[in-house]
Amino acid sequence: MRRQMIAGNWKMNTNLESGKALAEGLAKHVSGKDLNADVLVCPPFPYLQAVKAAVGNSGISVGAQNCYFEEPGAFTGEVAVDMLLDIGCDWVILGHSERRHVLGETDEVINKKTKAALAKGLGVVLCVGELLEDREAGKTNAVLDEQMKGGLADVAAGDLSKIVIAYEPVWAIGTGKTATPEMADEAHAHIRGWLTSNYDQSAADAMRILYGGSVKPNNAAELLGQPNVDGALVGGASLTVDNFGPIIDAGLAQSGK
Ligand code: PGA
Repeated sequence: MRRQMIAGNWKMNTNLESGKALAEGLAKHVSGKDLNADVLVCPPFPYLQAVKAAVGNSGISVGAQNCYFEEPGAFTGEVAVDMLLDIGCDWVILGHSERRHVLGETDEVINKKTKAALAKGLGVVLCVGELLEDREAGKTNAVLDEQMKGGLADVAAGDLSKIVIAYEPVWAIGTGKTATPEMADEAHAHIRGWLTSNYDQSAADAMRILYGGSVKPNNAAELLGQPNVDGALVGGASLTVDNFGPIIDAGLAQSGK
């Protein structure tokens, strides 16, 4: 039985006012509910502290969308793991496709960041996913294997409990095209199989694998109901309480299924 995680990736959206209002609205939405799933919001860096204050003791966690792998020092424009921990972040999203394909991050860099976060106890949402051309060429599993191998290189089995994998087919992100529940489950099962082969069965069974890519209130329940889908990483639909609230509720309903 795996605890679901519903994570909102706000990307480069909101401002201070709207970010605070969204966080307050979500805190209100979950208030009084039995939070049997992890609920996470990941605002832009400048709003992390305000959002952390706005979610208060609602049980909602706050995460960053990136970090750097070096210790604090002369790295202009970067943000260290220590700084995220200092302001109460519990998680960091790493390897998102926009960082891979727009900002040029390699598996090697993502791996360094993953190890830096884990070394300090910061949880990692590690994103993997194939491009449309990969899927059409029948290379989905090979791409997933390569990204898992690259991202988790030298990560000890004992650290896996601080990691959540997010499967996000790049062709489904922000496009309104969702992988069918069967396609998502198949990819998740493949990732779990990779974990079995490269770690062991218990590590694979315990790993939470989130689906991301055009998750909306009207498709969340079916996606989250798949045997290998343990939550969602949500972009566009995480920006309003009206959309994210029902997705959280779907996660609560499926947690420990
Ligand atoms: P989307 O984004 O829900 O807007 O498709 C998902 C993501 O990029 O994490």
